[in-house]
Amino acid sequence: MEIVPLGPGFAAELRGVRLADVAADDAVYAVVRAAFEEHSVLVFRDQEVTDEIQLAFSRRFGPPEVTKVGSQGTGSHFVTLSTIGPDGKVVPADHRLSLRSKANQLWHTDSSFKRVPALTSILSARIIPARGGETEYVSTRLAFERLDAPMRDKLESSFAWHDYAHSRSQIAAGLATPEERAALPPQCWRMVWKNPVNGRSAIYLASHAYAVEGMEAAAGKKLIEELMEAATAPGTSYLHPWRRGDVVMWDNRATMHRGRPWPAHEARLMVRTTISATEVDGVETMRLPSSQAAE
Ligand code: OGA
Ligand code: MN
Repeated sequence: MEIVPLGPGFAAELRGVRLADVAADDAVYAVVRAAFEEHSVLVFRDQEVTDEIQLAFSRRFGPPEVTKVGSQGTGSHFVTLSTIGPDGKVVPADHRLSLRSKANQLWHTDSSFKRVPALTSILSARIIPARGGETEYVSTRLAFERLDAPMRDKLESSFAWHDYAHSRSQIAAGLATPEERAALPPQCWRMVWKNPVNGRSAIYLASHAYAVEGMEAAAGKKLIEELMEAATAPGTSYLHPWRRGDVVMWDNRATMHRGRPWPAHEARLMVRTTISATEVDGVETMRLPSSQAAE
């Protein structure tokens, strides 16, 4: 297996490995897992991708999420991201599916609004537009390391509130449905996720974050905005242009990502599997101690 660096200090392509080998072979998994901890974003090219192969590969990393209410694929282990309507045609720009894909174009990490956040997401391209539609990544680990020491200290003991309805409201009022709001109450997470394998810390934030625990609302919002801006500063991202057979996985603890636009009349279809974070991934260290909770 060859590891080829891709981005500015993070992201790598793994050559000479097939998803099915990772699923079947402990030793191959161990090498891929180590590369995942180190590089945060892994690109696999020229893969044979079926739902079965993608899920078997994904399961290696932990328990697969069950897709939430309101997403395409609800109740299964797959999320379908597309703007193709039930009639097989691309939907208009004001359609809910288009607005949802716009919401994916905000910088975020997956599932920080869920009761159990995600370790990793695995995304495969099934229909690729001729232009645009890339996925862009930043390292929130490198972003943390760029902060000055007082800010790093402050963040290590700070907690932020994440709400799915908040990120959706930035695109359109009511984009999160009442069912989604009821199923997804706001969650509070430490603002720094320390990787238990290598001890490196990363800013844990997303478009879903709307408040800092114990901080006045406007000041908390300002801090979140400043950190998001610093984490996504020009020149710090890896932009992934999709080719047939590509699979990309990323560490939701240490990155943010966003979809990039493509011509609205063109079809794009992506399939994602998402793995929940468990104790070995450090999830317990992320929870607000109940003695500190305001409610
Ligand atoms: C995702 C996501 C962006 C894209 O799959 O979680 O945000 O480019 N995707 O499709
Ligand atoms: Mn996402």
